[in-house]
Amino acid sequence: MAFENVRWAFNVCEWKPSKEELLAASSYIQPEEKDRIARFIFQDDAKSSLIGRLLMKKFVHLSANIPYELIKLGRDDTGKPYLLESKVLPSFNVSHQGDYTVLAGNLHTNVGVDIMKIEPPVNKNIPDFFRIMNRQFSRHEWSTIRSYPSEMQQVACFYRMWCLKESYVKNIGIGITIPLDLISFSVQTPLKVNGIVTDTKLYLNNVLRDDWIFEETLLDEKHAVAVSLNTVGNYVTMEPQPFTLLSFEDLVREARPVYQSDARFTEDMLIKKVKEFRTTGH
Ligand SMILES: CC(C)(COP(=O)(O)OP(=O)(O)OC[C@H]1O[C@@H](n2cnc3c(N)ncnc32)[C@H](O)[C@@H]1OP(=O)(O)O)[C@@H](O)C(=O)NCCC(=O)NCCS
Repeated sequence: MAFENVRWAFNVCEWKPSKEELLAASSYIQPEEKDRIARFIFQDDAKSSLIGRLLMKKFVHLSANIPYELIKLGRDDTGKPYLLESKVLPSFNVSHQGDYTVLAGNLHTNVGVDIMKIEPPVNKNIPDFFRIMNRQFSRHEWSTIRSYPSEMQQVACFYRMWCLKESYVKNIGIGITIPLDLISFSVQTPLKVNGIVTDTKLYLNNVLRDDWIFEETLLDEKHAVAVSLNTVGNYVTMEPQPFTLLSFEDLVREARPVYQSDARFTEDMLIKKVKEFRTTGH
């Protein structure tokens, strides 16, 4: 099946939405999510989250063959979106940071995804930034990060590790009791644009967990992304998937209006502030 294991990316930074696109988008997403998006101060954040909703609906529609009007998404008590009222339960996860919103989806096994823009911390020097983050990573991970000669290479490795850890945590749910420094990754192969690395190993409490696969890539020179897949249970062996960059037209090709289009939402989106500089956070 064509859509049982997908990786999609959308360049939110380049997307300058028209009134018509936003009106259409407002008719595809659930009212409570539209209200949540409307509360963002910055247009960048509102666009990222809106694109995430459209990605989820497209994936559910195509993977589980559910018409748009029957797709109902809920959130669990940690905020993680999932499909309600369906016998088929495709797993999907979105991440938005830097210039992109991405989705990883799989019909058979749980997925998690995380994207990070590789850029120096704002208002902090790199040693201070690493010091603040000290407890988020294991000794092995820090020695890998610090093994790179230049500070920018260390930052790139830091964000690679960050994506790996978040993709795992987002897959299993953030209610985990294990401290983040006991979730430790051992990377072997450098990342490159248009290449997928799958030989990174996960250690939990110092025990190798080879029931997990991580697909890592660079979407471009500045964006690292990691997808986690759990190979226990329904797992079906699949080729690692490259990310496909979607246009807005691609994103809504199959979409059908489910709700009244919302002119007020559209106007409010268009007058939201745009961030003057982009930061590593949301
Ligand atoms: C909740 C959390 C998982 C979100 O991740 P994030 O990196 O801030 O944001 P991302 O852009 O990657 O993902 C956001 C999207 O993930 C989804 N999401 C929200 N809560 C989630 C959860 N508990 N689990 C998985 N996905 C979740 C949503 O779709 C959300 O977008 P939306 O609200 O616009 O729909 C994260 O903030 C968190 O609490 N992590 C805990 C672990 C930690 O501290 N890690 C530090 C780094 S090593």
